[in-house]
Amino acid sequence: MNAIVAADQNWGIGKDGDQLCYLSEDLKHFRALTLGHAVILGRRTLATFPGGRPLKGRRNLILSRDPAFQPEGAEVFRDISALLERAPADAFVIGGGSVYQSMLDYCDTVYVTCLEGVWPADVFFPNLDADPRWRLADEGPQMEQKGTGFRYLIYRRVCDVC
Ligand SMILES: NC(=O)c1ccc[n+]([C@@H]2O[C@H](COP(=O)([O-])OP(=O)(O)OC[C@H]3O[C@@H](n4cnc5c(N)ncnc54)[C@H](OP(=O)(O)O)[C@@H]3O)[C@@H](O)[C@H]2O)c1
Repeated sequence: MNAIVAADQNWGIGKDGDQLCYLSEDLKHFRALTLGHAVILGRRTLATFPGGRPLKGRRNLILSRDPAFQPEGAEVFRDISALLERAPADAFVIGGGSVYQSMLDYCDTVYVTCLEGVWPADVFFPNLDADPRWRLADEGPQMEQKGTGFRYLIYRRVCDVC
């Protein structure tokens, strides 16, 4: 499985229930990578989407323990093991913090949009630079939009237990 995330230099990914920032270039990149694939997300991340609706052109696999939560156009799972039974190997974990944390062990590639600087944040992605199971495998050029510097990075799992 894959994960895709926009994180600052401290691996901050969200603040007050929303993203740190929205860059149209990064949204295009996200769409290009995930379109046609299943996406795995938590109920709180779904709430940040326009109208709280699932993403079009992708199977939306949503984690929620709330038995009453059943959004149209999505498949809801009450726990990780039920989700793993149905999630394809090429699915993308798209957040948020709690779902990245619990699904990272099932991922072998993480696509990171690395935002320059340190942003105010209250939700974080696990620090892959400090984890010997992960290696930075590819680093794109520095880019800039709306005064925000960013670059695309790809991390790959190098071993399960080291
Ligand atoms: N920078 C990025 O790339 C990025 C991407 C996505 C999200 N974000 C940010 O991340 C933040 C949201 O993250 P979050 O951790 O607060 O919320 P989240 O992971 O999006 O959703 C949490 C909810 O998912 C459900 N859930 C999580 N684990 C579960 C499990 N094992 N079994 C069943 N249900 C489970 C629960 O829903 P119920 O409460 O309904 O039971 C839980 O309250 C926001 O700030 C958002 O903007 C950033």
